[in-house]
This record gives sequence, structure tokens and C-alpha cells, in this order.
Amino acid sequence: MAATDLRRLAADHLWLHFTQMGGHPPPIIVRGDGCYLEDLEGKRYLDALAGLFSVNLGYGFGEEIGQAAHEQMRELPFYTNWTYAHPRAIELSAEVASLAPGDLNRVFFVSGGSEAVEAAWKLARQYFSVRDGLEPGKKYKAIARDIAYHGTTMGALSINGIEALRAPFEPLVPEVRHVSNTNRYHRPDGETEAEFTAFLLEELERTILEMDPETVCLVHMEPVQNAGGSFVPPAGYWAGVRELCDRYDILLSADEVITAFGRLGHWFASERYDIRPDIVTSAKGLSSSYAAIGAVVTTDKVMEPFLESGAMYSHGITFGGHPVMCAIALKNIEIMKRERINEHVLENEDAFRATLAQLLDLPIVGDLRGAGFFYAIELVKDKETRETFSDEECDTLLRGFLSPRLFEKGLICRADDRGDPVIQISPPLIATQAQFDEMTGILGEVLAEAWEEMQ
Ligand SMILES: Cc1ncc(COP(=O)(O)O)c(C=O)c1O
Repeated sequence: MAATDLRRLAADHLWLHFTQMGGHPPPIIVRGDGCYLEDLEGKRYLDALAGLFSVNLGYGFGEEIGQAAHEQMRELPFYTNWTYAHPRAIELSAEVASLAPGDLNRVFFVSGGSEAVEAAWKLARQYFSVRDGLEPGKKYKAIARDIAYHGTTMGALSINGIEALRAPFEPLVPEVRHVSNTNRYHRPDGETEAEFTAFLLEELERTILEMDPETVCLVHMEPVQNAGGSFVPPAGYWAGVRELCDRYDILLSADEVITAFGRLGHWFASERYDIRPDIVTSAKGLSSSYAAIGAVVTTDKVMEPFLESGAMYSHGITFGGHPVMCAIALKNIEIMKRERINEHVLENEDAFRATLAQLLDLPIVGDLRGAGFFYAIELVKDKETRETFSDEECDTLLRGFLSPRLFEKGLICRADDRGDPVIQISPPLIATQAQFDEMTGILGEVLAEAWEEMQ
């Protein structure tokens, strides 16, 4: 189709996600290879966001993964996981169980991250009612963290810690409270890491007690929180969260929609931080986004009451465990193993961080944080005082200047102010020093200009 036709049809028919329609026409991306994308005009971009933190293998495996999809289409293009099983769902469940740490052993397929989060909360609610013979509506509440993004369906949205996303859809699903995330950058001067951990755990315990532990079924948190900018956990945090969940009989769910399948150099980040969750939600990287598939992974302990009582988990999605999606995910995992993707991330994370750390010389860059191939730099008005930009300034800085300018320079990353303003950097996991240098070069240039803009 001709470029002009594509633009016209996009304007007439395509409603974009999280986009103010009626503004500028959207960029139209037509192809990808490796870490790069190309638009309708033939301009190339370094995709330092891996799609949406999700194209872990990069864009170059279409032939091989397409072949797996093609073969599955010929063999069995669709069948369901409702009552029936089929070989690809069985094989993928066994593969995911073998890669998941500890006693995570049972796999329920969905079509994406929001559905995984939705399913995790519903599973936790039903687990307690089946295990203890409780009436529904007794142990149903959830705890998540401020500014955390967990998806857009009503349950996942309610768990979301971003006020601006929740507000238009009130009233939401009862009942969620949000505790502090692990952002240490704006904590009081002189506070030690141990003191920070103690503060976070005391707050979590206080919140559980205020809500009444008898009514709380789920604590749902990311190993490293994306929204707000790659908040890593302080030492002792996850052991403490696990202990509180055990003490108050609450299921712990690790939202690994971004972090699973290599982003932090492990199949699951729960392994890196020894989280020992009862439930893991995953999606994006499971197929490197070559397919719409997610998985909720849980333990035998969580499944046990369902096995013993004969109760069913009353949940299902037509496309959960779709055979073509499963075949793609299986091929993705096979390629990740062959290409040693986790090893590549672990071997290169220090070099990646060191390259990005050059940006800390700029007056506008206050903090660099993250792990694996998952980083954020926080932008500040004053490095000494760590003063952040006002909402109005953020608007000028991020939407008015940085986003369009970075794109113009051929770099796709995310300038985000769901918390304090950050640039999020999360490239395909095949990126090498050449890409670390390229993105740091462009960011350096554009952030220096941004500082001048804001004076
Ligand atoms: C941590 C986390 N959970 C859940 C989701 C929702 O996933 P999806 O967009 O596939 O519904 C996202 C999406 O970015 C996410 O980052």
C-alpha cells in the first residue's frame, strides 16, 4: 500500500493505545532487524526500548520463528486449554516450569501481561476460599506499590499504583492499597540501605495490619519496578516481604511481565533476588513479543487445594495457550538458549552500565539505576539538592522537547514522568557495545540540549 494511503487510513480508522488522537500523525514503522527499526520513509532507529520492554531477541528471528508458527498452523492452528490439552501447551508448560526457580511448577497460559495480573489476583482470591472453605469476599484484598504499572484491565488497573491511570475508571475493584516503592534516590540524606529496607518493611506490615490480614490475599510487586525508573530492591527487602507474607498468610506474586526471560540475565528475576514467590506473572519476553502470550506460574502448594477439593479455578481465556503462540514461545526459548542470551546480559551488564554512567557528567542527569539490560536515568533540575522538575516543566522537557528530539535523532527510548522524570532504557538483549555507545552518544547530545532549553 502506498505511503499516502497508509497515512490516510491510519488517520481515518486506527485508534492508538495511550495516545492523544487528533494530534500529530503517528510514525509508521514498517520493518525491523536486530536492534533497529525502519519507518515508512526509510529512516532507521535504534530501538532502545525493545518494543515495549519486550522484544528480547530483537527483530531478526522472523524467519526461524515464522517457520515454527507455520508448521504449527499446518498441524493444529487452534485448540483450547479449556478442558482440553494439546502438545505445544504441554511442552511449553513443562519448559517454563523447568526454567522457573524453586517450587514454581504449574503454568496457566493467558494472552498478555494484564491478563496474567488479572489471573493472579483471581487465583489468590479463589485459593483462599477453596483452601479454607471461606465464603467469597472474605480474603480478597491486594497490596501493590506506588507508581507501579501492572496493566489496564479492571483488576490489573486497580492494582496499578499510577493514580492518573486509575482515576478515569473509578470506582475500581476493591480493595487495593499501595505502599512505597524502592526508590532510594529521594530518601533522606544519610539513611543507610538497612534503614531503608526497615522503613519499607515496617510500612508494608503496618498496611497489612490496617487492612486486616484476614482479608488480604495478595502482595503483587515487580522484582525491579519499571514505572518511576528501574527501582532495584535494597538488600534484605525481598526476604522481608516473603517473611511478612508467610507470617500473615498472604500469597506473594512477582510481576515479571518485564523481568522474566532474560531482561535481568536470568529466566526469572525472582531467581536473581531470591524472591521465592507463590505466583509469577509473565508475558512479553516469553515469546520475545513474536506472539501474544503470557503465563501465570505458580506452585504445587497453590494448586493443592484445587486438586484435593475437586474445585476448578473458575477462569479462562479463549486464546490462553493458543498452539501457535505456544509454538512461537517454545522456539523463542530454544533460540535464547542457543544464543546464550542470559549469559550475554550478565557478561555485558557492567559495560552497559559503565557506558550509560558517562551521562552522569551532565548537569541534568541525577541518577542512573537498574540492572541487567534494564536502566533508567533520572533527570533533575538541581543535582546538589536532587530537586525535580515541576509538572509544567516536565511537560515542556519530556513531551515538548526530549521525546520528539530523541526520535528525530534516531533513538527510541521512553521519556517518562509517571514518577519523577526519567529516561527508560531497555534494549533488545542482543545489544552490544556498539549499541550502548550509540544510545549513550545520542542521549548525551540531546540531554545537553535539553539542559540549555530548560535554562
Ligand atoms: C510489570 C507489568 N505488568 C503488567 C503489564 C501489562 O502487560 P500487557 O500490556 O501485556 O497487558 C505490563 C506492561 O507493560 C508491565 O510492565
